[in-house]
Amino acid sequence: MDDLPPGIRERLRALPAGLRGHIERVVVEARRLAAVHRMDAEQAERAAWLHDLLRATPGDELLALTERYGYQANEVQRRLPMLLHGPLAAELLRREYGERDPDVLDAVRWHTSGDPAMDGLPLLLFVADKVEPEKLRLHPGQDEVRELANRDLRAAALRYLELLEARLAAGLPPRGRGRQAAGALDPHAEATRAALEAAVRQRGRRT
Ligand SMILES: [Fe+2]
Ligand SMILES: [Fe+2]
Repeated sequence: MDDLPPGIRERLRALPAGLRGHIERVVVEARRLAAVHRMDAEQAERAAWLHDLLRATPGDELLALTERYGYQANEVQRRLPMLLHGPLAAELLRREYGERDPDVLDAVRWHTSGDPAMDGLPLLLFVADKVEPEKLRLHPGQDEVRELANRDLRAAALRYLELLEARLAAGLPPRGRGRQAAGALDPHAEATRAALEAAVRQRGRRT
């Protein structure tokens, strides 16, 4: 955390304690997964510290930020502004804190819905965010995602999205917020799920 810009460290310190705890646990998971998959642990840690900078920002403020940054929110994001906290944090980091690492920016941008083309660091952060111990305590079924993540990040991300989809379809969203109204994956997450499924199936055929 020491090499983050002072303004970012202040923002992190000002976050609610629960969110701050989540971020710290994602940092641990991101470093662990980077070691398992022989990726850059420092870069993974940096993305983890930054990913939820706007997670506690109210929906109306997120929508105001879309105006300020000229960000085109889609219809689902307008209905569920929480879905904007990743894309807008990436904009904030790039425009106001000079973050230039494209992998870090993409990882922050896509950590909630995933992205059909994600690989490397964005894929690692997407999974690390979902398998920290407190999330597994809330959703015990996700233990399987953590186990898969030790072998195959893509298969882990796919399994997470399948479990989320089933939870949404059953009307059991995480803590009754956000996607509850949708009852299904948002279109970007749905496209991500389809791409991951195709990639995992393709690889299965080769091996
Ligand atoms: Fe998030
Ligand atoms: Fe998170």
